[in-house]
Amino acid sequence: MPLKKTFIVSGAQTKFGALEGVTFREMLAEAVDKATIQAGVPKKEIQAVFLGTFNPEMLIHQGHTAPLLLDYAGLRGLPATRHEAACASGAVALRAGIMAIESGLYDTVLVGGVEKMTSVSTNKVTEALAAAADDEFESGVGLTFPGVFALAAVAHMNRYGTTQEDMALVAVKAHKNAASNPLAQFQKEITLEKAMTPKFVAWPLKLFDCSPISDGAAALVLSSDKKAKQYTDTPVKIVGSGQASASMNLSGRSDLTSFEASVAASRSAYKMANLTPKDIDFAVVHDCFTIAEIIATEDIGFFKPGEGAKAVREGITAKDGAKPINPTGGLKAVGHPVGATGVKQAVEVYKELIGAAGANQVPKHNIGLMHNFGGTGATCVVNIMRRADA
Ligand SMILES: CC(C)(COP(=O)(O)OP(=O)(O)OC[C@H]1O[C@@H](n2cnc3c(N)ncnc32)[C@H](O)[C@@H]1OP(=O)(O)O)[C@@H](O)C(=O)NCCC(=O)NCCS
Repeated sequence: MPLKKTFIVSGAQTKFGALEGVTFREMLAEAVDKATIQAGVPKKEIQAVFLGTFNPEMLIHQGHTAPLLLDYAGLRGLPATRHEAACASGAVALRAGIMAIESGLYDTVLVGGVEKMTSVSTNKVTEALAAAADDEFESGVGLTFPGVFALAAVAHMNRYGTTQEDMALVAVKAHKNAASNPLAQFQKEITLEKAMTPKFVAWPLKLFDCSPISDGAAALVLSSDKKAKQYTDTPVKIVGSGQASASMNLSGRSDLTSFEASVAASRSAYKMANLTPKDIDFAVVHDCFTIAEIIATEDIGFFKPGEGAKAVREGITAKDGAKPINPTGGLKAVGHPVGATGVKQAVEVYKELIGAAGANQVPKHNIGLMHNFGGTGATCVVNIMRRADA
């Protein structure tokens, strides 16, 4: 059954990057101000708040983040919950917001996401991120996230002939798109040669195959059909939403060339929206590593298994290609402040759909899809959005 009445009426993000001197709470407050006051949605209209943050306990020694963040965002007193699903924390917060509107409990809610990662060392961040994998069988014995995605890359290379150069081309595309995105961590194009620099993080993944360590926040406002038009002439309807999980431990998976939670979540979202991959104009997918983008485009059904790399090589996934993927620069070049990412992806789809993506605007923008997964792909959320007048 399609979703009936949830609309995005505003959305915003802070700049992503190493934001020295800007705190966790300040970032979320900035994103909230941009998505409310600056977008014409009075804060007093917000009835509840859903927040995604991954591991502030280890990164900034702060738990119980929802009321803290509300204090600084000028929303004190509202019902607020924190949602955690590793890198999919933002998207599960968004799902909770969607369900709150669909249930009829609220008419206007705020969804936010935030992470502050750069105030500790890379080693400490790696340890904090590793908490998203199975500690007893994987991270506890040394498997890090670059290591996990290196395994997926090797499996894809062995089965389909995907090459290191194919992955590097994803990075070149990401940096090219991010060069015109003022909110991106890396606003600089890179050559294929640079992307292929053999600075190995976990073979075959090199520095430019990885998303960076980032700070940042994003927020959006959801409204019911009763209220949406009060805030904007261009609301965006969420027409399908799917969430799925898979075995936490990679040893429980039969295949590393695909993430089964991505396949299942996208199928649910398509079914709910009564749409197929052919109907989708563009997608924002979870490219925490370049191989993750290639696999995601296959898992969401844009390309057949094994044909994601070919699509990159042929320019099909370029900003002006037939199926643009990550037109603003993806996690790879915009940055990946874990809890903020899923919300930021929804903001990007929203802006593309309403034609407000500036230099990063895709040509055809009636229906867009976001794909956000967590950890080793053990949680995945896919949302499909459509411009209300499309
Ligand atoms: C790849 C990684 C290990 C690099 O960290 P690092 O070695 O500490 O790198 P530094 O911060 O010292 O940066 C060194 C240089 O590389 C650049 N850099 C860092 N990460 C980069 C990335 N991912 N892509 C491109 N450039 C990067 C920095 O800007 C810096 O450039 P400069 O010397 O010109 O200023 C780190 O970014 C990482 O762990 N990424 C993966 C994060 C992750 O797993 N996220 C969860 C996914 S599920």
